Amino acid sequence: MSKRDFLSLSDLSLAEARQVFAMTAKMKQAPKGSARGLLSGRAVAVVLEKASTRTRVSFEVGISQLGAHPITLTTDGSQIARGEPIKDTARVLSGYCDLISFRTFATARLKEMASFATVPVINALSDDGHPVQVLCDVMTVEEQLGAPITGKKVAFVGDCSSNMARSWVEAARIFDFHLALAAPEGYFPPDHEVRAAGDRVSLHRDAREAIRGCEVVNTDVWASMGQEAEAEKRRRAFAGWTIDAAMLEPAASSCIVLHCLPAHRGEEIDDATIEGPRSRVFPQAENRLHVQKGLMCFLLGVSP
Ligand code: CP
Ligand code: NVA
Repeated sequence: MSKRDFLSLSDLSLAEARQVFAMTAKMKQAPKGSARGLLSGRAVAVVLEKASTRTRVSFEVGISQLGAHPITLTTDGSQIARGEPIKDTARVLSGYCDLISFRTFATARLKEMASFATVPVINALSDDGHPVQVLCDVMTVEEQLGAPITGKKVAFVGDCSSNMARSWVEAARIFDFHLALAAPEGYFPPDHEVRAAGDRVSLHRDAREAIRGCEVVNTDVWASMGQEAEAEKRRRAFAGWTIDAAMLEPAASSCIVLHCLPAHRGEEIDDATIEGPRSRVFPQAENRLHVQKGLMCFLLGVSP
């Protein structure tokens, strides 16, 4: 059987994503440590070419809870900083490890890792997507709303050209919900990605119009990792786009707010909203641990 990668959400069918959620739910309910035997004797590499708190810790802890050995490589602490090609790193790591979780810049680099690795590769964030985060977020939405996301109205407000928004567009197509994207002109996903989602995705230049009646509102930083030089220009472009109580007024009364974190409080979201009753950002962060365990088991063909 050929190896399964998870480079974008489309690498899972809806049925497979549901299988990952079912496996996750089972492990989440089980006492800590009861999944220990599942990946016993295996090793998983977490390769980070950008900074990380949640991804690093949730993968390392999840790998340990499954009984496998986590090995994290950062650019500076490895030969990547000296220019060792990813295609060489991929083949070397495949000889030692059973799975590679990779955070990088361009999609070409991610694809090079996946095509030269002989073990499954998970995209742990690239310039073009953060699929593992959004897979976790869909499960968080379903847990928090107590219902399937299918048919729900979700908004993404702010930098809709970001990796996060682009993975949410893919999620709308796969899980069949309506996604309203609100951004200043020039900050939407590439046209072909929006078109692929059909009428499930709508584009708005007015955030309050997008948020009207939504049960979920998402945002992300205005300048992603790698865009630091554009931070000031983006701060000007996004002035007035902060998610706060006034912005959320047209949302459904049951509306929850998500942010993948880290947040720049006072920019894309205010402190009161993150700390307020609609916020689900900390259950969202915790679910990185649980869903990634389900995903790793799925890709390695192991059932809890
Ligand atoms: N949300 C997320 O991926 O966080 P980190 O950058 O801390 O891993
Ligand atoms: N869009 C953000 C997400 C961080 C988890 C970034 O790429 O920096």
